[in-house]
Amino acid sequence: MQTKATRMIDRQTVDRILDAANIVDVVSDFVTLKRAGANLKGLCPFHDDRTPSFMVSPSKNICKCFACGKGGTPVHFIMEHEQLTYPEALRYLAKKYHIEIKEREQTDEEKAEQSERESLFIVNEWANEWFQKQMNDTVDGRAVGLAYFRQRGFRDDIIKKFQLGFCPDKYDAQWQAALAEGFNEDYILKTGLCIRNEAGKTYDRFRNRVIFPIHTISGKVVGFGGRVLDSRTKGVSIKYQNSPESIIYSKKRELYGLYLAKQAIVKNELCYLVEGYTDVMAMHQMGVENVVASSGTALTHEQIRAIHRFTENIVVIYDGDAAGIKASQRGIDMLLAEGMTVKLLLLPDGDDPDSFARKHTAEEYQRYLQEHQVDFIRFKTDLLLAEAQGDPIKLSRLVNNIVDSIAVIPDEITRTFYIKETSQMLSIEERIITNAVAKVMKRLKDERQKTREREEQKVNTQPEGTQQNATQAMGVSPEAQTLTPEEEAFLAGIIPESSDDVKSPTTETNNTPLRNVRRDSERAILQTEDLLLQMVVRYGEKVMCDVEDDAGESQPLTVAEFIDYLLTQDGLTLRNTQNRQILNEALEHIGEEGFRCDRYFENHPDLAIAEKANELGHDPETLSKIHEKGIPVKPEEERLMELLPHVMTDYKLAIVDDELQTLMRQMCEPTIISSKEKSAELLNRYQELKQVQGQLGKLRGDRVMM
Ligand code: CTP
Ligand code: MN
Repeated sequence: MQTKATRMIDRQTVDRILDAANIVDVVSDFVTLKRAGANLKGLCPFHDDRTPSFMVSPSKNICKCFACGKGGTPVHFIMEHEQLTYPEALRYLAKKYHIEIKEREQTDEEKAEQSERESLFIVNEWANEWFQKQMNDTVDGRAVGLAYFRQRGFRDDIIKKFQLGFCPDKYDAQWQAALAEGFNEDYILKTGLCIRNEAGKTYDRFRNRVIFPIHTISGKVVGFGGRVLDSRTKGVSIKYQNSPESIIYSKKRELYGLYLAKQAIVKNELCYLVEGYTDVMAMHQMGVENVVASSGTALTHEQIRAIHRFTENIVVIYDGDAAGIKASQRGIDMLLAEGMTVKLLLLPDGDDPDSFARKHTAEEYQRYLQEHQVDFIRFKTDLLLAEAQGDPIKLSRLVNNIVDSIAVIPDEITRTFYIKETSQMLSIEERIITNAVAKVMKRLKDERQKTREREEQKVNTQPEGTQQNATQAMGVSPEAQTLTPEEEAFLAGIIPESSDDVKSPTTETNNTPLRNVRRDSERAILQTEDLLLQMVVRYGEKVMCDVEDDAGESQPLTVAEFIDYLLTQDGLTLRNTQNRQILNEALEHIGEEGFRCDRYFENHPDLAIAEKANELGHDPETLSKIHEKGIPVKPEEERLMELLPHVMTDYKLAIVDDELQTLMRQMCEPTIISSKEKSAELLNRYQELKQVQGQLGKLRGDRVMM
């Protein structure tokens, strides 16, 4: 994820990794496999599998779960299982097979930064081991550090899992040890492990503290948190000391525990968010592993994105003090604005997840989590309604508070759902809340517009090359500044700019935003369809892979057949008649000796088809323009195996998007609105499709992400 640091793996190395990776080998590290004919099978690691549905084919070097559909090449398996990006998965496999990674040439600047980063990581790696040794293998460490954790109720397996450590109560024990290890002074200081004062003396930052190492998403140690021992919390010392910001550590980017949580988050389709290091540990001890901590600071966009990469669903856990809850309003709104489903959970008065753990069994603990998570409206209402009862000012403050949150939600249907819920819970007419939400949305839109204008002015007066940082420095993500088509549609639907803009549904013209949205989504389908067609026209007869037929014989599958197969699998046909004809003709002739799609279609008797084929065949741009991000550059033909599934995913996504738009239109029609049954039916379908959209999006995201 740290794009700057990601180096390109050179192509030969990629090929060597792909060649070396053996599916049985790779899967066996995680799944116990048994022979089943020519294949092997085992319990699927991606879903709660009771009968072995996970098949591994040594001959094709792929795996697949017949229940949940997950699987693929060794790289895909590792990406999914370890939740890694494509290049990360390649590195993983390179390590497994002892393949040395050759990097692309870097500029001198890149090299310098790279080597500094690497050096800091090496120092941290060493320090992490050293802290653990101090705690586990020295008399003082055991008597003070280890005893501290044990006395707080942490089991030894948890202490080990989180690689907890201890820094002795000496002025510069670590400094001396690091120097003895031969580390460059500069690097030691840059990690922040040791501090040099004005008098030129160097001492240990974490002395006499227990240590919590902080890992990146892929498990590297970027920093540490050090806690004073209980006896000193009442004194002058600050409870936690953390590593300072450095080129490898930025507090606002990291989430404590994500490295250990990611698999559980995916498996449970849910992430718990807590505040502190010990809360994360306590939850693991209670058997809940899908948990991360924001480490006491306000949630940032980077952190939210990191969670969103693994799930859409988040439960924020609060300890029972109301001050903290009110202050966290912004965090909730940021999560909602990111399109996540947010639930909240309040612990009994005075408890945090850690102290609460010590009073309950794992079973009670998990049940409490299950039963007490509520959506943000109920949460706010429960919290504030009692004091607002009979006080119209407080009541209206509560309503406004809820309305403000609803207004940031990007998805219209979700907003509508929450508006209904609010109306029911507070016995306020739905229309009133709808209008209030629309007003806030309008205000937000105007504000964003203004910010954008200000930004543009600023950018215009800035020297070139610094422009991009202007928006970033504001902490505003570029996406947050413009309205989504859905928002546009929503706004247009309820609050016309002026009264003559009001149009009844029947006189709707092509220029209403909803129409534009619809046309955009249709255009997206056709554009992607052209990409598929381009593959057919250029490479239709080329063999993609081998499949087993009914008789168990291995049969080659061509590009055109593969596309056809993927389409029929989901009951899809191409939209454009001419495209359908091209695909069908390709399928018809593909068995013929020496048949080549490009020649055949470029010389087709139907001139329209010939023209199209020529267009598609000789446009060097389109195909290679996409998906360059995650995939090492190879000649297009070689990349087909990787490219085709991407394009197909994009195609399916475009279709889903389009259908979602259609559904949204239907749901806004008066005849539907007045029928509870029909509304519910459409909403059901809508939610189903949203899920499909999420899955497809994830598939696309995972594969392309760097
Ligand atoms: N924190 C910090 N610096 C501080 C105080 C807190 O970085 N001076 C962060 C730590 O990550 C801490 C989290 O904020 O884990 C939550 O703070 P708090 O609730 O005060 O600590 P607990 O996690 O409850 O720690 P403990 O149970 O050890 O007291
Ligand atoms: Mn605590």
